[in-house]
Amino acid sequence: MIGQTLAMEGIFAFFLESSFLGVLLYGEERFSPQVQWFAALMLFLGSWLSGYFILATNAWMQHPVAYTVAPDGRLFVNSLSGLLTNPWLLWQYTHNMTATVVTAAFVMVALGALYLLSGQHVAHAKTFLRTGVVAGAIACTLMIFPTGDGNAKQVFAHQPLKGAAFEGLFHTERGAGLILVGQPNMETLTIDNPLVVPRALSFLVYEDLWAELKGLDAFPREQWPDNVPLLYYTYHIMVGLGTILASVMALSLLMLWRGWLFKSKWLLWLLMLSAPFPYIATTAGWMTAELGRQPWLVYGVLRTAEGASPLVHAGNALFTLLGFLGMYLLLGLLFLFFISQTIREGPVPGVRKTSRLPVDGSVEA
Ligand code: HEM
Repeated sequence: MIGQTLAMEGIFAFFLESSFLGVLLYGEERFSPQVQWFAALMLFLGSWLSGYFILATNAWMQHPVAYTVAPDGRLFVNSLSGLLTNPWLLWQYTHNMTATVVTAAFVMVALGALYLLSGQHVAHAKTFLRTGVVAGAIACTLMIFPTGDGNAKQVFAHQPLKGAAFEGLFHTERGAGLILVGQPNMETLTIDNPLVVPRALSFLVYEDLWAELKGLDAFPREQWPDNVPLLYYTYHIMVGLGTILASVMALSLLMLWRGWLFKSKWLLWLLMLSAPFPYIATTAGWMTAELGRQPWLVYGVLRTAEGASPLVHAGNALFTLLGFLGMYLLLGLLFLFFISQTIREGPVPGVRKTSRLPVDGSVEA
């Protein structure tokens, strides 16, 4: 099941993405702007296709479809199209890809703000800010509605236990409130110091203020996610950051429209410092989806504890994990090094202090 979509990702999407990334990065002086534009388009298609195949794999683990169980217990794909059109994908894919646009928009506005505050590459900085703020405001809205909302409704429909755990709903309730802040207490099975919007959760999930929502107590304890507090916190971090990021973008759009954005130093500082938060929200989102699926590896089909291979020793797994940690740490440090070098160099190498570009962004000489 897992091999199908992962192989398709490698063959169809990864090669498309990596080949055209090469053309885009190294072809600047060799190819015409039209070829570069085409390479950028293919890179975009490749990366979004790549996301699709990877998420189709994850969607199957969240909501298994299109499979048959052989007499020896192995699972086989019985419909490739069924696997690729798993209904879980609709909200998962749109929410995820919207998260990538939110992140890209914040990176773009942060860079624009940095250049504008330091008086470098001013024309480019304004283009970055204008494009980033418009794209970011649209993406932040889509992040909450319909994709975030759709994702949450889908979780309550198919994985009610996950939904109850990330919302901190320990007990079944009619007219359940939405917990904004508070700390889950696993001894008393309550939320300490809660700040609650009455009946809002029932309304958000079932569009009915008095609808009954199943709490964790409606399910046997051995089926609960292993780490309810961490799941609760990651979900609240994602949603909290989503609300803050959307407010920052809405304010920036208003300021742009009124013509105040480029002069407003405090807002430029805020935009510049906001850049890491979409990365944190994305990681928190993934932790929500994966911690919430526990104790299942494949929801309702295979428990995580049953997923261990008898052929791989725990020491081997730990050694490989440490190897990956080391590799990603190195790649992360290299990323930071090269990205800061590229930012310092700027969009037009050699032009630092003030931009010699006209406002439309075209190169003068
Ligand atoms: C207020 C806004 C938001 C709501 C209501 C929301 C809702 C959700 C829900 C319910 C899930 C869990 C899906 C599952 O368990 O399968 C989820 C996952 C996720 N969220 Fe959010 N989210 C919001 C904001 C954000 C933001 C701002 C980001 C990042 C910029 C983000 C990125 C993600 C990612 C990467 C996942 C994991 C993939 C997935 O299963 O869709 N979310 N979100």
